[in-house]
Amino acid sequence: MRLLHPAVLIAFPTTLLLTAAAIALTDSPPIGEQPVIQHHLDHRAILEGRVSLQEAIEAGRLLFTADFNRLDGAGRPETDGTGDPRQRREGVEAFNRVSGPDANACSGCHNKPRVGGGGDNVANVFVLAQRFGFVDDFTQVDPVRGEIPGTLSAVGNERNTPGMWGAGAIEMLAREMTADLHAIRDRALRLARQMRRSTTLSLETKGVYFGKITARPDGTVDSSAVEGVDADLIIKPFHQKGVVVSLRQFTNSAFNHHHGMQPVERFGRDTDPDRDGVPNELTEGDITAATLFQASLAFPGQVIPRHPKRAMAVYRGEQLFEKIGCAHCHRPTLELNSRYYTEPNPYNPPGNLRLQDVPQTIRLDLTRDGEHPRPRLTARGTILVRAYTDLKRHDLGDDPRIHNERIVQGGVPTRVFLTKRLWGVASEPPFLHNGRATLLTDAIDAHGGEAADARRAFWSLPEYDRACVIEFLKSLQVLPPNTRHLVIRE
Ligand code: HEC
Ligand code: HEC
Repeated sequence: MRLLHPAVLIAFPTTLLLTAAAIALTDSPPIGEQPVIQHHLDHRAILEGRVSLQEAIEAGRLLFTADFNRLDGAGRPETDGTGDPRQRREGVEAFNRVSGPDANACSGCHNKPRVGGGGDNVANVFVLAQRFGFVDDFTQVDPVRGEIPGTLSAVGNERNTPGMWGAGAIEMLAREMTADLHAIRDRALRLARQMRRSTTLSLETKGVYFGKITARPDGTVDSSAVEGVDADLIIKPFHQKGVVVSLRQFTNSAFNHHHGMQPVERFGRDTDPDRDGVPNELTEGDITAATLFQASLAFPGQVIPRHPKRAMAVYRGEQLFEKIGCAHCHRPTLELNSRYYTEPNPYNPPGNLRLQDVPQTIRLDLTRDGEHPRPRLTARGTILVRAYTDLKRHDLGDDPRIHNERIVQGGVPTRVFLTKRLWGVASEPPFLHNGRATLLTDAIDAHGGEAADARRAFWSLPEYDRACVIEFLKSLQVLPPNTRHLVIRE
């Protein structure tokens, strides 16, 4: 061992002291244990451009990948995942894989094939279990149903993690479709009043049929023939049940449920409902940033195989997909009229930033501000969203791989799901809402109910043609970062 020269030993502490003094004089970064989020964003600063859109998106990425700690306000000792009070739980009981908080970061689950995407089955969420304070014994007392059976499936609906690719365009499609449906309802009401008799109109938007609405002369409506959407005619494109309006609404719930990070717009300013000693855990600006980050994520695209035999199979499979009726629900293209994603969403329910709370909206141009690959404008100034969904809910029948849930969510029957977006599907196995299908064929085979004919048509195809359909689905991928085109060669 080499000994230090005595002169060094004497000089060393002096140097350190001097350096410490010099650092104290400058604007020094804090050292030691710190919250991960050192700067909270002001929504107005983003609105007024003091924080640029790209800076806000970057801040959103940080929030989405942050491993929140106790100093950030992670954990919710005295509230459950819905925000209701619970008996105090902390220390080893600060985390619960079933009822939450169940993860440290959004990206802990949303990471396939990269941040913002889907998740492995290990990241499944037991949706609605967050209504319980702490699930360590499956005999629980449900606030509504009383004592429930001692099984995991009675406590929560197990769901696999979907990706948020192209989610800005998806939310905007839903808003445009909602506006169309509301305009049809208003026209029916006007006609009924003018003609003094009940008037029935078809609810169709972007080529998707949502049943019929009947308006009565007294200004009331009969929604019993509405299908695939709630009676409020608001298209809710998020949650696999189609029960959440906006990325923002989902994000507010997710921060509290998964991490015990309580947004001010949901829980109030300068309050500490979870009693963890940290008020104002996430500002409106933070939620705006996290939302803009998700809205700006890349569009998935298509990878055409190099081998001519496989490329031919993709083209043939694409045609067969339409021919056998898959495209009836998995619409290859929905056309978005506006190129702008705006924040906040005009249909946000209370507990989320709303239009009336802000002087104007923040605009993100999906064709310029989003991550690559991003969409181009058509000659008409529109965007073609090739997401393979109709944003409508369908009864998928009672195959146990699909019809496995016990708890009704948002009034949507347990056999009914929103048509899954298939863009990017090949990059985000496993498949189905519960992640139980490891093969695309198994996912198709589980279809029933309204999709029974399409399933039958699939199995009636010769083996080569079935393989073509699968080869086509395999071409729908999340493309490598910064890809410039939406359709690329392998
Ligand atoms: C423990 C895993 C997990 C964590 C952590 C997590 N999520 Fe999710 N996320 C899921 C699952 C599972 C779903 C599907 C829920 C469903 O359909 O019922 C989902 C759905 C979503 C959706 C709706 C997507 C769609 O297309 O329907 C959004 C938006 C979202 N999460 C945002 C977030 C944000 C923001 C965070 C962090 C604050 C987060 N998630 C943390 C697992 C997770
Ligand atoms: C009646 C509407 C409807 C029709 C027709 C339909 N699907 Fe689906 N599809 C859905 C819904 C709803 C889901 C979500 C089911 C779930 O998650 O449990 C889904 C899920 C899928 C999935 C799983 C995707 C994933 O990421 O988990 C695949 C693959 C799929 N469909 C392919 C097809 C093919 C191929 C056809 C034609 C043979 C078809 N679908 C016909 C509505 C439909």
